[in-house]
Amino acid sequence: MAKTELYYFTGTGNSLSVAKILTTQLDGALIPIAAMDDQDEIVSEADVIGITFPTYYADVPTIVRRFARKLVARPGAYVFGVITYGGAFGAALDYLERLLQSRGHGLDARFGVHMPQNAFRKFWENRPRAFRRSARRARAIATAVEKRQTGIDYTNGLLQAAINPFAKSFERSSVLFLEKAAGIASPSGLTLEALIPLIDRTYSATDACTGCGICERVCPVGNISMENGRPVWHQHCENCLACFNWCPVDALRGSVSKKEYRYKHPELTLQDMIRQRSFRSRD
Ligand SMILES: Cc1cc2nc3c(=O)[nH]c(=O)nc-3n(C[C@H](O)[C@H](O)[C@H](O)COP(=O)(O)O)c2cc1C
Repeated sequence: MAKTELYYFTGTGNSLSVAKILTTQLDGALIPIAAMDDQDEIVSEADVIGITFPTYYADVPTIVRRFARKLVARPGAYVFGVITYGGAFGAALDYLERLLQSRGHGLDARFGVHMPQNAFRKFWENRPRAFRRSARRARAIATAVEKRQTGIDYTNGLLQAAINPFAKSFERSSVLFLEKAAGIASPSGLTLEALIPLIDRTYSATDACTGCGICERVCPVGNISMENGRPVWHQHCENCLACFNWCPVDALRGSVSKKEYRYKHPELTLQDMIRQRSFRSRD
């Protein structure tokens, strides 16, 4: 039987929900990318490798970029990418492929799963329908992987193809947004990848903070420490929004998180978030 590994990164549970469906149907191992972040090289002996993650700024999260640059797949392995997104992911899967190519392999197949937007409210979004559709879509992806389907298979093929040529200008506007949000003079000359971790300079806890430390525990990259009973961020933020969404008293504020909007996938548990960083291969 084919050895299958399903790597994932998640901030609010959408990507994990998809990765779990793939894991069950493909009888694979579910492995958090966050737990591999301190390794210099990630050597996989699997025949089938899936990488599931959200798009941020129509790009690949910086932690997934690091992972892709370090992944050494077995020659002949079937490698596929699954991106979850709330509207459009631009050329993010092209970027993932380029990163993987730096290690000599590409993407045999690419998939997109449209899911609820976790960063701002879309008043027209029908969440129950979005969850039903995305679960169906994840099962269809698993079937395509079982058949070793190759090529591009976007959820919203036409829309994505129409948006793709604008990926570069989207990147420029994301850089401007992040410079402004992080209070950095523009043009800073910094890339999107360099700016994203700095956004937490704007994060703070209000007086409602009880010092419970849940934000520290759910941060997938260990970017938060508790000092004098308050969270302190250390400028390697993924912008994943986990800290904001798990705060039991909604005490956190910051420029990527609209205060009136909180989101978590309904199946996501605190244990899921903690496991993301503490996972060891015997888990
Ligand atoms: C900082 C940030 C940037 C985002 N940028 C995009 C984007 O450019 N396009 C998009 O469709 N969704 C975007 N989203 C939404 C997420 O990609 C989407 O909701 C995803 O499914 C969340 O996955 P998760 O729950 O596994 O973290 C963004 C979310 C965040 C937090």
